[in-house]
Amino acid sequence: MRVNRVGVAIVVAMVAVACGGGGGGGDGDGDSGTVTPSMAELGRKLFFDTNLSSGSNQSCATCHDPDNGFADPLVSVTAPVSEGSVGGAFGDRNAPTSAYTSFTPLFGKVAAQDQTPETDSKYQGGQFLDGRAIDLVEQAKGPFLNPVEMNNASEAEVVGKVQNSSYAADFIAVFGADAFSDTTTAYHNIATAIAAFEASAEVNKFTSKFDAFLAGQYTMSASEQRGFDLFKDAETAKCANCHTVGETSEESIFTNFRYYNIGTPTNLQNPAYIADNTFVDGGLGNSAAIDAADQTTEQGKFKVPTLRNVELTAPYMHNGVYETLEEVVLHYDIQVANLFITPEVNDANIAAEMNAGTFVGLDLSDQDRIDLVNFMKTLTDGFF
Ligand code: HEC
Ligand code: HEC
Repeated sequence: MRVNRVGVAIVVAMVAVACGGGGGGGDGDGDSGTVTPSMAELGRKLFFDTNLSSGSNQSCATCHDPDNGFADPLVSVTAPVSEGSVGGAFGDRNAPTSAYTSFTPLFGKVAAQDQTPETDSKYQGGQFLDGRAIDLVEQAKGPFLNPVEMNNASEAEVVGKVQNSSYAADFIAVFGADAFSDTTTAYHNIATAIAAFEASAEVNKFTSKFDAFLAGQYTMSASEQRGFDLFKDAETAKCANCHTVGETSEESIFTNFRYYNIGTPTNLQNPAYIADNTFVDGGLGNSAAIDAADQTTEQGKFKVPTLRNVELTAPYMHNGVYETLEEVVLHYDIQVANLFITPEVNDANIAAEMNAGTFVGLDLSDQDRIDLVNFMKTLTDGFF
């Protein structure tokens, strides 16, 4: 799905437009007794509407299920990618969580002085694992029309379904009386409302043990605390070098929004690989959003994923090659060191933290690995 991103700077309006303020002609003020829904409330309805797929069987929430950390509950290491609205249609990648994505900066080039040596990408931010959508609004325009996802024929088809939905009046209340008169504008506004929902506290809850810990309201178990200390240790496990931790919850999205090749192996169960055993996912290197001259140096790099709710979002990595967090930690440790795996893209781009591709491993003890996993499980929302 190609997205035109050049020069688009969209500010997602996260303000509630209740009381007729700034909603572009919303007339549902207090006097009439009706309450204008906020942009995010409208976005919520769009996000959960299965009617917005060709088979009326799939919504955004099908692959980004709130009860499953906003990832797909139906996938596993042997069936790692989501099925589309059309049965038997599959994409190439494992659906990541759609939560906490509103914290991702716009896709763009890293200033030259902030680029670290060859292993670190020249790009940061953006949506999708290869950053090909500049922001959440452009991202949300993709799945409706993607043949292996919601499979609508056109923007007009999606807009028509919203116009005939039970919440069409909400759409008009938020975007004005002529909200449906221009298809391009209406489609853009559908995406804008979804992005507002994705930026809401319902999606980005910050209610994990870790958040309670930051607020001084939870004492970690000895294992969780050791795991956290190891996670932050820049010399030993090095996790927080990429999965950023800060002083506050909002500074702790557990990603630096940069791109790396960490030597993830091919998932032989990926339908794309089964169909063609020369299939290699080049990640950022294959994205139309980067300069053609950077295609080689960005091969095999994927955006660092958030680890919030990671306990719920198995399988792991862009291709779902690992079923458990224990396996992921082994990946960073002995599994790679002992060459039990062959990276999907095994070249000079492999991150410096992976010992520049020599994979000597982290030399963690069994207890260290258990502690790291226990720490990651403190990132699951719903503790308070
Ligand atoms: C059939 C399953 C499926 C459906 C339906 C679906 N998605 Fe996704 N979503 C994915 C996959 C797979 C990716 C990763 C694709 C890639 O990187 O190329 C993704 C990526 C994303 C991302 C980017 C996350 C990140 O960290 O970069 C967001 C946000 C998102 N989806 C939101 C949505 C919204 C909003 C909808 C509805 C309009 C939707 N998705 C519908 C499977 C799905
Ligand atoms: C050099 C940067 C870097 C370092 C260091 C790093 N990671 Fe990652 N991590 C990534 C990237 C990039 C991915 C996604 C790779 C892919 O999809 O192929 C990832 C993926 C993951 C995932 C899978 C998440 C998901 O939703 O699929 C987990 C879990 C994880 N890392 C935990 C850790 C732990 C624990 C450590 C420390 C032992 C660590 N990472 C160190 C960059 C890093």
